[in-house]
Amino acid sequence: MAHQSDLIAEDIAAYLKAQEEKSMLRFITCGSVDDGKSTLIGRLLYDSKLIFEDQLNALEADSKKMGTQGQEIDFALLVDGLAAEREQGITIDVAYRFFSTDKRKFIVADTPGHEQYTRNMATGASTADVAILLIDARRGVLTQTRRHSFICSLLGIKRIVLAVNKMDLVDYSQDVLNEIDADYRAFAKDFGFEDIVTIPLSALKGDNIIESSDATPWYEGPSLMHYLENVQVGDARQAADFRLPVQWVNRPNLDFRGFSGTVASGTIKVGDPIKALPSAQESRVKSIVTYDGDLDEAVAGEAITLTLEDEIDISRGDIIAGKDHPPEVADQFEAKIIWMHDDAMLPGRPYLFKTANKIIPGAVTDLKHKINVNTLAKAAAKQLELNEIGVCNIGLDSRIAFDAYGDNKETGAFIIIDRLTNTTVGVGMIDFALRRASNIHWQALDVNKNARADQKHQRPAVLWFTGLSGSGKSTIANIVEKRLFARGRHTYTLDGDNVRHGLNQDLGFTDADRVENIRRVGEVAKLMVDAGLMVMTSFISPFRAERRMVHDLMAEGEFIEVFVDTPIEVCAERDPKGLYKKAQAGEIKNFTGYDSPYEEPERAAIHVKTAEADAETCADQIIDYLEENGYLNANGGNRD
Ligand code: ADX
Repeated sequence: MAHQSDLIAEDIAAYLKAQEEKSMLRFITCGSVDDGKSTLIGRLLYDSKLIFEDQLNALEADSKKMGTQGQEIDFALLVDGLAAEREQGITIDVAYRFFSTDKRKFIVADTPGHEQYTRNMATGASTADVAILLIDARRGVLTQTRRHSFICSLLGIKRIVLAVNKMDLVDYSQDVLNEIDADYRAFAKDFGFEDIVTIPLSALKGDNIIESSDATPWYEGPSLMHYLENVQVGDARQAADFRLPVQWVNRPNLDFRGFSGTVASGTIKVGDPIKALPSAQESRVKSIVTYDGDLDEAVAGEAITLTLEDEIDISRGDIIAGKDHPPEVADQFEAKIIWMHDDAMLPGRPYLFKTANKIIPGAVTDLKHKINVNTLAKAAAKQLELNEIGVCNIGLDSRIAFDAYGDNKETGAFIIIDRLTNTTVGVGMIDFALRRASNIHWQALDVNKNARADQKHQRPAVLWFTGLSGSGKSTIANIVEKRLFARGRHTYTLDGDNVRHGLNQDLGFTDADRVENIRRVGEVAKLMVDAGLMVMTSFISPFRAERRMVHDLMAEGEFIEVFVDTPIEVCAERDPKGLYKKAQAGEIKNFTGYDSPYEEPERAAIHVKTAEADAETCADQIIDYLEENGYLNANGGNRD
């Protein structure tokens, strides 16, 4: 690698400057070891005398010895692809390799090709400009080629290199190549790729990797490296409409109010008319401020602060856009989701959705279907498992500004975060807004919750009993209701078994059905609290996420979690419905405590232990809690 090391040795600063000014291409290699992927990457790196990451590290150390500055800048540039993933909180394993030739810098995302690594591939593909799809010349277009193409298309990759490897094993036959090329184009026609280049290769022998090979005189296209060095990817981010997701409102003093963030896409100039979303207020750009002074114009990727001609309503997480091409604003949309976690995605379960700069609670309101990544067939499903891809409707707690992913990758993608563990569990690409619900307004009623509660002289609340089957929830809830009733309170009890005969008779005991069971019961309990009632609910409600969801549905102090804590052996011993016997005999599936989990509350307001106290005593404990916390005051409560 003489040409590189000479410059490094002679003039490290010049070398680094040259590096900095080169354009960058990000690509992903899709295929498996059997297709010769490692050989191909190895060949690419070795034959073109490239600089490897560890050599860059060595270079850094060397240049420090020589007392030269500036190497860090370049290194940061080289790794910024990775930083983007880290910011998104995706910790999924993707090997990134960095290398450069005289013409260009490259970041290769190298992910395993098997189906169980779909999430890794999607992560790698999300930032790639080009995908190299490896094909074994002897085997042609395979199921995995379809899967890889589908994922690339889903993540918006427009340029495909069909790298037909092992040409040496088919005697460099032009017919073989043509057949594979025709096959692939026929099946890829609906994927929206703008450019497909088919290259005959032998990674092992080095044919058409760097130089055009004599072994394929009939082939007139570029070598792989020639293609990678010269392909014009045009910056899609620059070409898209202007979007500045506001990271913070910069107000150091009363005279200055600026909106800071990194331009996600497009271009903006001083004087341009803008629109802020979701408020839809308009103004013009007064100045574009940066650390290095004011600019007349800013483009995608630059960190800027915009000041505007008018005082308009903009806060963190809003988007500033050009006036004539604003993003959409909605709280419901359809999206494709790739699930990335072992715990399945359950419709109705509350998650956090992180878009350009905002984190908003919401849920998948409907899993319309999942997509078989191999056949692309649609299939009905109740939940999405790890590595599965589904088309979903999403409902958020508040409106966001966004674009369709096909129009803008930066403002059209989101990640899904588990509310309890804070881990990334999925990623999504927005298709379009759902307008259905926008004409349903909340009807303000004159007789409201307070009026109804006052009339009953009580403070409405839900006592949410949770615990294993047979733990004693219904028994204790029944006693508590009788006591409250005797004191003149207006009450109601929602009981698991009863509700499953009516409202929820369509639900079974899968995780997805339990989530939906609790979601519906939570909504009903909320309505009853709104009616001014004191409500007892008696459901196993095994998952923390849904208990918390119900908690979040209610106003402060309205949700009182009661953990009916009974060891499973005691429940099995009691076995009031004979279900434990059946579960032990394997006659019923998904039985809580056996083959379906129960997540104990961590901070229940009331914790009763039925193995140590009888049901009456547990009820006393609950009534005491209500007394002590002002739920049973003579005037009905301490709401005021
Ligand atoms: S929850 O998990 O969705 O909250 P829910 O409280 O409504 O469950 O219903 C639980 C009741 O259904 C149990 O008390 C029991 O009588 C009955 N049941 C039938 N099959 C099962 C099962 N597989 N797991 C748990 N409970 C079951």
